[in-house]
Amino acid sequence: MRQLSLKGRTFPTDLNHAGTVFGGWVMAKMDKAASIQVEEVINSPAVTMSVSNFSFLKPIHNGDVFMVYTQVERIGNTSIDIHVELIVRSKEDLSEKKVTQGVFTFVAVNSQGKTVKIREVLRSHVAPYITEMLEAPQKERKGTESQNVSNK
Ligand SMILES: CC(C)(COP(=O)(O)OP(=O)(O)OC[C@H]1O[C@@H](n2cnc3c(N)ncnc32)[C@H](O)[C@@H]1OP(=O)(O)O)[C@@H](O)C(=O)NCCC(=O)NCCS
Repeated sequence: MRQLSLKGRTFPTDLNHAGTVFGGWVMAKMDKAASIQVEEVINSPAVTMSVSNFSFLKPIHNGDVFMVYTQVERIGNTSIDIHVELIVRSKEDLSEKKVTQGVFTFVAVNSQGKTVKIREVLRSHVAPYITEMLEAPQKERKGTESQNVSNK
């Protein structure tokens, strides 16, 4: 289920030398939004393990209002994949367009930084689809097959 995890406005300090928003700034916002969703699923610290299938589809400009939507895509033994989309709203007609997307993989860790099983730290009141994901046989990550082929 897709949810709004972060909303804000870009400022001049967020721009690169070309005058559009710096990619690293955008990735940080998406990482933060994903971490907010992860915290709603598990009661444990979690760290970003990887970012995959990431695309910058359109530029973002100074003063744009943005929304970051997140969705739990996959739950593994110790990891959670969050699909993240950053949407920008037009000042003129408030229409929305997707400007970036990616999948952020978080791993649950304990205070020593060692991995922890998701089911051991799952919050008690998560949405039913989260429990169903945990109980279902684990799906292979999207894109894994093609990555394996291209690595040969
Ligand atoms: C995250 C960390 C604790 C994992 O430790 P590890 O010993 O490599 O863990 P594992 O090999 O057991 O893998 C843990 C999970 O990550 C997944 N994983 C490993 N490499 C991955 C990759 N490249 N992409 C996606 N998932 C990956 C594994 O499949 C496993 O998930 P699962 O248990 O659900 O199947 C360790 O790599 C780490 O501390 N990394 C630095 C994290 C960090 O500082 N992030 C930036 C700031 S938040």
